[in-house]
Amino acid sequence: MQNNGSRTFDNNYTTKVIAEATLRENIIDAIGKTPLVRLTIGGHDTSVYGKLELLNPFGMKDRVAKRAILEARRTGVLRPDAPIIESSSGTMALGVALVGTYLGHEVHIVTDPRMDAITKAKLEALGCHLHIVERMTSHGWQSARLERLAQLMEQYPGAFWPRQYENPDNPLAYVELANELLADLEHIDVLVGPVGSGGSLCGTARELRKYLPNLRVVAVDAVGSAIFGQPDRPTRLQSGLGNSLIPPNVDPSVIDEVHWLSDEEAFAATLQLARHEKIFAGNSSGSAYVVARWYAHTAPAGTKIVALFPDRGDRYVETIYSAEYRRQKGVQALRLPDTPTEVSYGTPVESWTYAHLPRNAE
Ligand SMILES: Cc1ncc(COP(=O)(O)O)c(C=O)c1O
Repeated sequence: MQNNGSRTFDNNYTTKVIAEATLRENIIDAIGKTPLVRLTIGGHDTSVYGKLELLNPFGMKDRVAKRAILEARRTGVLRPDAPIIESSSGTMALGVALVGTYLGHEVHIVTDPRMDAITKAKLEALGCHLHIVERMTSHGWQSARLERLAQLMEQYPGAFWPRQYENPDNPLAYVELANELLADLEHIDVLVGPVGSGGSLCGTARELRKYLPNLRVVAVDAVGSAIFGQPDRPTRLQSGLGNSLIPPNVDPSVIDEVHWLSDEEAFAATLQLARHEKIFAGNSSGSAYVVARWYAHTAPAGTKIVALFPDRGDRYVETIYSAEYRRQKGVQALRLPDTPTEVSYGTPVESWTYAHLPRNAE
């Protein structure tokens, strides 16, 4: 047994033979069944697991695109020759491009100038049409994109819009993820996940609660996001999580607690996730990681915590992972406190803070 800092590793380890088929009939079938990895953090017999949604063909939203598009085809809402149009700057765009173009649909993605070169290259390589809005409107980039999307829907009658912010197939796509977690772990005490449309955390939590009624559900958001009653700040640097609008797929009734991290804290968290756990991921995974880590240090012995890690780090090489970018944005100090501050829901926040959702407030 070799001891490498906090890690122990058996030198006589041989790859486990897992008697489970890995062959998939097509790329759509390669979506889901992502690895669940025990992290090195924990203590007092507490265990923390990362659900590596970033190991889907493109990312977590492959699941949503699969469910929404297959359902729309099954019910006839999407005809085999009709185009698909969606607004996204990242993972949802990739999922829709993957599933939509694979099934022979024309795919239009509406996005904004914040889209990184790697995502753009992937979308173009898959053969989708990109529409990039030039300026923010009343509710930031989000409303500008939705306005352009409405124009495209007029231009392409019969087009299907997956509507990730309100389509019930978004949260329903995570029933499978919940079942994967239940198959891997007999019990889960705490589920931590970033929130953008709300689909992944709320969909997973709703399904898990059927079997684990005492599950604690912890949302992770960005300072400057409007989802949980904060003033909107569209200039925030974090992507994936956060929103300038409140999406209908956010179901506060299944969420117990919300944490907000500043850009600087989220960047520091993402770098720590790579450094300590060897998981090269985006900022939403980084934020979920440090919230899960804090829980692990404060929870009673035996607590099992799962954190959702939505996307890989490759699209952030010019931002989060660039020292020059961090310096330009004034976040090079990478300050991240060990402990968040508790506030009452509705208090405006600037750095790592958490609040209980109103129905749970004392
Ligand atoms: C990288 C990343 N993390 C987190 C989220 C939030 O997930 P959800 O939309 O399911 O709330 C998204 C959503 O697009 C994302 O792209």
